[in-house]
Amino acid sequence: MIYYKSERELKIMREAGLIVAGAFNLIKKIIRPGLSTLELDKAAADYILSRMGIPAFKGYRGYPGNICVSVNEEVVHGIPDKRILKEGDIASIDVGVEYKNYFADAAITLPVGQITERARKLIEITRNSLNRAIEQMQPNVKLSSVSAVIQNLAESNGFSVVRDFVGHGIGSAMHEDPQVPNYVMPPKDNIEVILKPGLVVALEPMINEGGWEVEILPNKWTVVTKDRKLSAHFEHTVAVTENGREVLTG
Ligand code: MF3
Ligand code: CO
Repeated sequence: MIYYKSERELKIMREAGLIVAGAFNLIKKIIRPGLSTLELDKAAADYILSRMGIPAFKGYRGYPGNICVSVNEEVVHGIPDKRILKEGDIASIDVGVEYKNYFADAAITLPVGQITERARKLIEITRNSLNRAIEQMQPNVKLSSVSAVIQNLAESNGFSVVRDFVGHGIGSAMHEDPQVPNYVMPPKDNIEVILKPGLVVALEPMINEGGWEVEILPNKWTVVTKDRKLSAHFEHTVAVTENGREVLTG
């Protein structure tokens, strides 16, 4: 069941979104070759707690980290540990915050030092696919046409769209209806959602350099590309408004 947020709820979600955005400002400042993914996790958690937020992923279905840091062929749900980021890596960082019982969720893929031209292009296309999908959002638009924007941009650039993980509604739970695939499903499988004011979704394209197939590592969390080629991930929490949309984690 989709539920539509009131002004009061949107106000709290905006505050949660600002904490997420602040965490990313910090992460962008400190990320560099030589830093461990656990150091990024610690810095983000300290910041979130200082702003009266709660790192939303910690303990979610037993997830051990505060944030996710997924490096290179890792798609999502990379667990922060002693791994040292090195020049040429790309790091997909996912941050969720709970604040006054509401959630906001966002992700970015950052270069670590100098990266290859191909990695740079993958990041750029993934970022653009999210931004174009956001621009598409307004009342009376089909959710599948938001998904189509992402798929078209990714595939027309020779990349592929991860199928096994999708975006989601968000509000008083981190994952709410509807699911938001980053690809268009066959009509028979597709329960068409029409965007209306008060709907809040986390759009989160996960785009692979090679094939779309993924697998899960023995730690039961980390998702990697089957061909071990690169993957990028961008996410924003976005509310549909009367005239268009508002990015809550911007
Ligand atoms: N953005 C991801 C999601 O919406 C992050 C979840 S990480 C988890 O599912 F650890 F909490 F699962
Ligand atoms: Co999410």
